[in-house]
Amino acid sequence: MLNFLPPSLAPLIVGLAGIAASFLFLFGLQRMSSPVTAPSGIRVAGVGMVVAVLASFLYALGVDEAARPHLWVNLALAIVALALGGGVAWWAGRTVAMTAMPQMVAIYNGMGGGAAAGIAAVELFGNKASDATALGVTLLGALIGAVSLSGSLIAWAKLQGVLNKPLRVPGQQLLNGAVMLVTVALGVFIVCVAYKLVDSPVAMPAMVWTFLALALAFGVLMTLPIGGADMPVVISIYNAFTGLAVGLEGYVLQNPALMIAGMVVGAAGLLLTLLMAKAMNRSVSNVVFTNFGGPSKHKRSAVKGELKPMAPGDAGIAMRYAKSVIIVPGFGLAAAQAQGKLYEFVKMLQAGGVSVKFAIHPVAGRMPGQMDVLLAEAGVPYDMIFQLEDINEEFATTDISLVIGANDVVNPAARSDKGSPIYGMPILNADKAGKCFVVKRGEGKGYAGIVNALFYADNTCMVYGDALAVLQQMTESVKSLGLPAAA
Ligand code: TAP
Repeated sequence: MLNFLPPSLAPLIVGLAGIAASFLFLFGLQRMSSPVTAPSGIRVAGVGMVVAVLASFLYALGVDEAARPHLWVNLALAIVALALGGGVAWWAGRTVAMTAMPQMVAIYNGMGGGAAAGIAAVELFGNKASDATALGVTLLGALIGAVSLSGSLIAWAKLQGVLNKPLRVPGQQLLNGAVMLVTVALGVFIVCVAYKLVDSPVAMPAMVWTFLALALAFGVLMTLPIGGADMPVVISIYNAFTGLAVGLEGYVLQNPALMIAGMVVGAAGLLLTLLMAKAMNRSVSNVVFTNFGGPSKHKRSAVKGELKPMAPGDAGIAMRYAKSVIIVPGFGLAAAQAQGKLYEFVKMLQAGGVSVKFAIHPVAGRMPGQMDVLLAEAGVPYDMIFQLEDINEEFATTDISLVIGANDVVNPAARSDKGSPIYGMPILNADKAGKCFVVKRGEGKGYAGIVNALFYADNTCMVYGDALAVLQQMTESVKSLGLPAAA
């Protein structure tokens, strides 16, 4: 057997490694708060993860001879799992389309929750909890982790289009409440049986299996009725759940790195949930317990005006002669992968002396920050990118707003139509610019599935076509003017 660490030194090294990993996670996270430092933040947190994994191997090698009967088999299994998981994640990370990122985040979230529930299951089936508190914490971690796993898988299926509609049954909330109540009651019963306060007619493993199955069922039942437009908030709720579950299992295993990483993820997920709910002007309970994203009562007949088509070339030339342009990117820009072409066009406008800014809505696209990442990928400087609250007033004094593949985030129904499912969500004031050009392929609706009065407004023109093709034509038309670039 490999006893390369003196028994007294092993726990010290493992403990220090855990603290070093925790520090790297926190430092990395802090650097992720700005797009400029985020790439290095991700690398720093990655190094923290490597340190944590190495510390886990050291821990396994350092435990008592008697407590490691299957050490080599377990280590081999851990290495196979690392190679498989790492390999798949590496491949998925490199090949995933920008538009499929939210699904990937949902899956990874679920994996984290599943891992926490898995650790808890090993502890529960092995009857390893040292006291009633540890058993209670293990059960709580198992419950939250399992809910996060099954809920995230349903969120993935919805975002992937495998499940297309919110599935609701009459009395859904009552059913959900009942399942949660039975699960918690069973958890309390398990603790009572373990400490011989009551007798059980059922064996402990069967009760643990039932507990886990009920927790998984609750995750499914809780997520099925929620509409697709609320999935970002749901994913970040599960993100917080996963962090909490991991933190709780870290406590059970007395592993500081797991505890700190779990709590950091939990707190970050909770903050993100609150920020996104605020961006949509909704409360978190409203997201989870109401029917946003369900069928809309909003009718086309309520919208006045006509759609006015405009050729891409004409729109391009109009922008070239404008003083100021604000661009509102949305999901369609990511779908068309037109960010590079867009920035090429923007540089031509800037060379002609046009002031160009980008306005980002917090829920534009299909995941938080998707538009920022998309523009960063194209090389757009950060000082040209403005968040909703920092730029919304400027639309009123801007010549042209260019809406590219965005819809819900510029829908004025959010301000005035109480029957609209997006009523109350702050929107970008694209309609308040002197003129508004909207680039989209046809009359397709946005994610919330509702008509957009902006498209019918007097000052709006529709530039139909795939965003990439339209931008290509806009660029060519401005080039064809043959104007010298401004000094
Ligand atoms: P959407 O409201 O979804 O509108 C996107 C528009 O892009 C569609 O109307 C579509 O119209 C157009 N489009 C699609 N492909 C295109 C292409 N290749 N070229 C040009 N246009 C194209 O997008 P948004 O304004 O970004 O709003 C986001 C919505 O998604 C919100 O309702 C939000 O709540 C929800 N959501 C957000 C997230 C996060 S966290 N960002 C996650 C999930 C859901 P055509 O079909 O006519 O082209």
